[in-house]
Amino acid sequence: MRMDRGKQEDEQVKQTKFLVGAATAAHQVEGNNKKSDYWAMEQLPGSNFSEPSLDAADHYHRYKEDLQLLADTGANAYRFSIEWARIEPQKGVYDETEIAHYREVLLTCHQLNLTPIVTLHHFTSPKWLITEGGWEAQTTIAYFRQYAQLIAERLGDLITYVCTINEANMGKQIRKLIEGMQAAAQQAPEAATEEKTADLQIGLNELQASDERAIFNQGLAGSFEIAPDKIQTFLAPRSEAGEAIIMACHQAAREAFKAIHPETQVGITFSLYDHQALPGAEALAEAGQQADFLDYLPYLEADDFLGVQNYTRKIHALPGQAVPEEPTRMTKMGYEFYPEALGNVLQAVAKQWHKPILVTENGVATDNDAERIEFMARAIEGVAQAKAAGVPVIGYCYWSLLDNFEWQLGYAQTFGLIAVDRKTQTRYPKESLAYLHQIVEKMQNS
Ligand code: BGC
Repeated sequence: MRMDRGKQEDEQVKQTKFLVGAATAAHQVEGNNKKSDYWAMEQLPGSNFSEPSLDAADHYHRYKEDLQLLADTGANAYRFSIEWARIEPQKGVYDETEIAHYREVLLTCHQLNLTPIVTLHHFTSPKWLITEGGWEAQTTIAYFRQYAQLIAERLGDLITYVCTINEANMGKQIRKLIEGMQAAAQQAPEAATEEKTADLQIGLNELQASDERAIFNQGLAGSFEIAPDKIQTFLAPRSEAGEAIIMACHQAAREAFKAIHPETQVGITFSLYDHQALPGAEALAEAGQQADFLDYLPYLEADDFLGVQNYTRKIHALPGQAVPEEPTRMTKMGYEFYPEALGNVLQAVAKQWHKPILVTENGVATDNDAERIEFMARAIEGVAQAKAAGVPVIGYCYWSLLDNFEWQLGYAQTFGLIAVDRKTQTRYPKESLAYLHQIVEKMQNS
């Protein structure tokens, strides 16, 4: 199997160096992802997106400048996603210009000594896939396999790590949240609007006035050419059958990639909470960990690594049990500022997972960059402690490199190490970007 120089060097790096970098996802930073399902949904009247993504951070054209800023800190890794909707804008039609684009991005990573960690699917899908039944359709397994095979054939010589699917468990978490909201609405209709979606580690807005929803649904049906209740985007509530399809997609992509590049490290990522319990509620916390992670283990046996994504903790309580210390410090996203969650998650996961673990996302939305640095410092302390305790953690990617499009919550959520003036697309590195250097120093000497 051909292995180019960049990749051989990465192999050596992998043996010796702890990976430190930052993460992005195509739709959130590139701009003009026009063939995707999300683009279509954002543009519709009555949309529950607070604003459309439009040019995003124009990373599609400015990636060299962005990667240079990242590399200048001494960071050695960049996690990003390849956009399936760009590669295959119509079913079976591959866009050579887009393949060449991502080749350039990968080459830039190697030139800058950034190990590329490539996600094949980060929430957005080609619009045609959704019209074909999306993430509840058996046919998606073969489509995803073909796409993964194409990436392996055309770009795999430059890819060191592959995350097949970002937060494969998110559809299940969304289903549970919505079921909870519906149950609450039945019990106390007047209080239902107070239910918060901040229970998810992602910007989602399920609270939409019913008249707006009706308009939106009508637009969806026209745009996707199927009934709104058949529109299964990746972030739609997922059925049990859909869960099996996601895992089959992961396995198919892994097999396709490994068949061509056995040396590439292939894994998947999960949205993982630090599940904590008040006295008596331990079984609830265990059920949370079971649903978020342990249920998936049988499908991951042939994986090379696990991608852990954590933003906060979840405290489980019995019905009527009061949380003794209500969280007082919240992030802009509306969940608790609790950086220690990451170390706890690593220790919890390592009880059942003994292969390498890569922190593929961890971060905070805040306008106060000193607070971001505090978050990073406390989170990385937990990573260092986990590593010292024998957890096979091999890297840390902060979310996110740039202030970006936080899905339905739009651009107001500032997770970035680099601020972006979206009128001029000027980059303004924050102090926290330079802080990556301290993480490199700390982790490579630990
Ligand atoms: C997702 C990102 C998202 C981030 C912050 C993660 O769940 O992978 O796309 O922007 O959380 O909410």
